[in-house]
Amino acid sequence: MSHTIKNIACIGAGYVGGPTMAVIAEKCPDIKVTVVDVNEKRIAAWNDENLDNLPIYEPGLKEVVKGARGRNLFFSTDVDAAIDAAEMVFISVNTPTKTYGVGKGMAADLKYVELCARQIARVANTDKIVVEKSTLPVRTAQSIRTILKAEGKAVNFQVLSNPEFLAEGTAVADLHQPDRVLIGGDQDAAGQRAVNALADIYAGWVSRDRIITTNVWSSELSKLTANAFLAQRVSSINALSALCEKSGADVEEIARAIGRDSRIGSKFMKASVGFGGSCFQKDILNLVYIARSYGLTEVGDYWEQVIVMNDYQKRRFAANIVNQLFNTVSGKKIAMLGWAFKKDTNDTRESAAIYVADYLLNEQAELFIYDPKVKPEQVYADLDYLNTRSESENRRLVTVVNQPGDAMKEAHAVAVMTEWDVFKTYDWQKVYDDMKKPAFVFDGRNILDGSGLKEIGFMYQGIGR
Ligand code: NAD
Ligand code: UGA
Repeated sequence: MSHTIKNIACIGAGYVGGPTMAVIAEKCPDIKVTVVDVNEKRIAAWNDENLDNLPIYEPGLKEVVKGARGRNLFFSTDVDAAIDAAEMVFISVNTPTKTYGVGKGMAADLKYVELCARQIARVANTDKIVVEKSTLPVRTAQSIRTILKAEGKAVNFQVLSNPEFLAEGTAVADLHQPDRVLIGGDQDAAGQRAVNALADIYAGWVSRDRIITTNVWSSELSKLTANAFLAQRVSSINALSALCEKSGADVEEIARAIGRDSRIGSKFMKASVGFGGSCFQKDILNLVYIARSYGLTEVGDYWEQVIVMNDYQKRRFAANIVNQLFNTVSGKKIAMLGWAFKKDTNDTRESAAIYVADYLLNEQAELFIYDPKVKPEQVYADLDYLNTRSESENRRLVTVVNQPGDAMKEAHAVAVMTEWDVFKTYDWQKVYDDMKKPAFVFDGRNILDGSGLKEIGFMYQGIGR
């Protein structure tokens, strides 16, 4: 298929920009795709000869990059040049929760998005379609449009919203076979031409009936809504897990029983130590902020409970560990298996493990941490970022190991924090035999009864029994 768009730039070579553009380049060899970033180290890693050094670990990603890189996929720090050459510019920069000023701790920080818009406005000498790929508050396109027009150039801009729904760990599969692609654009003829140009790109590998088009505001708000609904399911089942522990019901059996109702469905029903990841919390906080700023207090309060429940769950899990270990973990060796916020990713942003570790460190536990894909410096950076204790204290109390056996040997407790498949292959009986007695294993995937470990044939000792 031949496309009207021949040259794409993507600003932001992160977890979304990198994989998304790699797949577009893979599927559309006639389009030149340049991914740019101000982070030189990140771009160098995307260009690394050794594909094991890509900045992001995702199953299947290195194969996609290998096929397209240098052919029609390029990674560069020259943002101006990429914008100048492109007919379509994706904005895929981070939109973290604000840490200052009005909306601190709630609203999305749009400074990076605004910088992109200003840069596009400054550099552009030809018409451009600007695509919001980042997750943004509803009506951001209006601000982008205003910034783009402010330079007063004789250049036409169209602003589209095209939120990304990939989940980490399955990014490549999600991009290859998305449930849907969402494109929001202006309803006039020029807007619809831009929508069609983007839809044609996806139609190279996604069937047309999965490409949904809406107005810009619906598209922007659908993204926040999708994440809010998904996170709400996790908080709902986690809330029930607490009640299960008290009542003797089994949360996995409940999930199985209610999930068979096709109106409820079986996905996103796994009780856990709490959801993590860079987006659920940030996007819900943003939704709450937006609702409240329109005076919709009840709407904001309703969604905020999803976060309240998630914080409770993380705290509850950590407190359960301390309770089981006779109300003191001071000086005790506790192994944490997994630091990433979910399996098959090296991303640790907002990982529940960070908060559980912090709680245990406040109780003066000695932590031994193992994760198959997370580097030691990342673990320390995550703990230092909390600013709860000094960097030297974090290094004194926390050891990151390369061999999981080193973490678990003679430990008082093992907490399985991330459901990496490799953890299921361990000889858990041997692990248990090598631990300090009485020994406890806490399964972070299901805090009720460690049934994750039951699955692998380990006679679970400890929590709640
Ligand atoms: P990220 O932090 O991994 O990547 C963003 C990149 O943008 C960084 O490398 C940063 O250096 C770069 N950047 C920031 N400002 C820049 C500028 N002015 N010029 C050039 N580069 C700049 O973030 P991410 O996880 O890829 O998320 C990006 C957006 O996508 C966010 O809005 C997020 O909510 C959304 N999103 C993320 C996921 C996910 O799974 N991570 C999924 C769907 C949507
Ligand atoms: C999530 C959404 O699933 C994506 O659609 C969205 O694009 C993305 O956020 C985003 O906007 O960033 P992601 O955070 O990568 O993707 O991963 P999920 O699979 O959604 O898991 C999020 C967290 O919820 C993880 O910590 C996971 O362990 C937890 N979870 C998930 C549960 O505790 N129980 C479940 O049943 C499912």
